Amino acid sequence: MSKISLDEFLGMRISQRCEYFQENARLLALVYAQQLNRELLNSLFKLADTIRKLSESRKGRIFLRGLLPDRRAMLYFTQPSTRTFLSFASACHILGMNSSNVRDPATSSEVKGESREDGLRIFSLYHDLIIMRQPEGGFCENIAFQMLGWPGRKPIINAGSGMDQHPTQALLDLYTLQRCFAASGGPDHKRIMLVGDLKRGRTARSLAYLLTNYTSVELILVSPAELAMADDIKDHLQENGTPFVETDNMQPYLGKVDAIYMTRIQDEWDKGPKTSIDYGRFGLRSEHLKILKPECYILHPLPRRAEIETGIDNDRRAVYFDQAENGMWVRAALIAHMFAVDDKVISHRLRR
Ligand code: NCD
Repeated sequence: MSKISLDEFLGMRISQRCEYFQENARLLALVYAQQLNRELLNSLFKLADTIRKLSESRKGRIFLRGLLPDRRAMLYFTQPSTRTFLSFASACHILGMNSSNVRDPATSSEVKGESREDGLRIFSLYHDLIIMRQPEGGFCENIAFQMLGWPGRKPIINAGSGMDQHPTQALLDLYTLQRCFAASGGPDHKRIMLVGDLKRGRTARSLAYLLTNYTSVELILVSPAELAMADDIKDHLQENGTPFVETDNMQPYLGKVDAIYMTRIQDEWDKGPKTSIDYGRFGLRSEHLKILKPECYILHPLPRRAEIETGIDNDRRAVYFDQAENGMWVRAALIAHMFAVDDKVISHRLRR
């Protein structure tokens, strides 16, 4: 691929940018949810199921830990995270990788004025994989692009970039939907409701992108008008023929949807005085359960606040804790794919 500047790269359509981050069908970096097509999703889900199955036995766990014992991962997480951080650290450990981390930029030479680009270039010399989460949208794609020109370029995974994207959360959300709907053909032909802060919630944004891979999916986008889904996503939905409805009232749709994806209001991004939005209307309460279809699954990327009453947690349709566990397995699958040990996993399982 010809050498281009960062500005030229950022001027391209995302579909063109995606080509820079893969070689044949293998991801070199996962920056955007748009890189995950149906074929890749299916193979990652199959791989995640296989890793999970192998992990049930001591022999299987030892086999998995023998896959990447010579590889080291760097978790550069300068934005608060426990779930995603530990999920990735555990995914690395399942495959035998060691991991190191930087969580607080106050402990790095950034305080001496070093640029984050220089810092990441150094980490890429010490490690074989960079997994990064930070508050600035666009920073991960910037580093992933620069990495293409650095010697010994290393794979990168976007573990949440500002308000922009969170592709591995969308991956685990879809893996969860795939498992929930295993008996009815997966997420195709399902009506899915996304609720909450759809403007600043990167998980809902990335999930909306991924859902366009599925046939006849319909989206109900529920948010306060001020926090509605942004035009870039709505354009993508339209271009890909995924119908959607926008509303600030979930009530009429509760009994008609197959899955509800709740999200919290992302008010850490509020500048100045907080807006006086009544968030209570964007919450799920125990009395709603009787309205839902018997097979309507409730998801949430977590952390939750009051948007799902804890009384709902024991309903069999509440799958948000399974979702978090699914994340660890599908992230292990993603790392196995990036290091090309996926075939080893599948053939090992087939031999047994
Ligand atoms: C989400 C995030 O960080 O975007 N959390 C997560 O990774 N599971 C959702 C959120 O913070 O609301």
